[in-house]
Amino acid sequence: MTKTWKLGALALAFAAGSAFAQTYPARPVTWIVPFAAGGPTDAMARHIADRVAREIGGPIIIENAPGAGGTVGTAKAARATPDGYTMLVGHMGYMGAAPALYKKLGYDPVKDFAPVFRFPDTPLVLMVRKEHPAKDIKALVEYGKANADKMFISNAGIGSSSHLIAALFAASAGIKVSQVPYKGAGPALIDVIGGQVDAMFDQTNTALPQIRDAKVRPLAVTSKVRLPQLKDVPTLAETVLPGFEASTWYGIYAPKGTPQPVLDKVQAAYLKVMTDKAFTDKMAEQAIQMLPPEQYTGAALAKHTEAEVARWKAVAAKTGISMD
Ligand code: MLT
Repeated sequence: MTKTWKLGALALAFAAGSAFAQTYPARPVTWIVPFAAGGPTDAMARHIADRVAREIGGPIIIENAPGAGGTVGTAKAARATPDGYTMLVGHMGYMGAAPALYKKLGYDPVKDFAPVFRFPDTPLVLMVRKEHPAKDIKALVEYGKANADKMFISNAGIGSSSHLIAALFAASAGIKVSQVPYKGAGPALIDVIGGQVDAMFDQTNTALPQIRDAKVRPLAVTSKVRLPQLKDVPTLAETVLPGFEASTWYGIYAPKGTPQPVLDKVQAAYLKVMTDKAFTDKMAEQAIQMLPPEQYTGAALAKHTEAEVARWKAVAAKTGISMD
């Protein structure tokens, strides 16, 4: 193939992509949430999808495809036709840590996807069932030490952020816990409320309403500083784990090969939404942490994804976090 021919083919593909983007979306777009409905990923996705849909001028439907810490739905998204009508709501677990945890993963977070934009980050709250004997975080660590493998922590599946952060917490605090996987943080939290398990790390957007209703007891937050919504709840860093800080990052990914003009259109719509104060105030109300604006782009998310895949490989090697 001559250079001129190649350039001609590229120009034609670009023109076709641009024309396609002008009429996009001509039918409903699906965003795959690879967790059960009612959890933090689902809630964030619906909130953002609603606003992006208004900007692009067509509906965005959320499809919940839970299983194996989000990796089942992610593999489905990777195999979808790259036409802009199927995208993935990705997060730090299945798009960052999974390659370090799963021997056989049905996708490659970097090679199989085109990042579109990044959400703000969500910190987590460590909560216990209401009747739990530990009244503060120091007491919970003591309880964990005295009850090796008998402290039950629910999570949203192996490789979900609730699993990873609980594993990091236990490894850093020097305690052995039993992690109980569910199909999403929604059902995992129901069992903390019901008292079937001891504790859980859940993201603020779904944790705060349950804390306000006194259905669970918050003991610590994973953010660097205390959250305005939970002023009396200490950080893990200021109490038992100096330097500890964690949050869940999210982004929208399209299957690789999706026309660039479509990615640009969706990214532009989202960046516009992120300048709407009413929208960002709503996020702040849920203690969701805003990022510097340049970090919301698809290009920044691409770099972040690569860095996270490498970081989790190092974390897994150091701490022994695995599928167990
Ligand atoms: C969910 O929506 O179920 C959560 O985001 C899962 C998690 O803890 O990562």
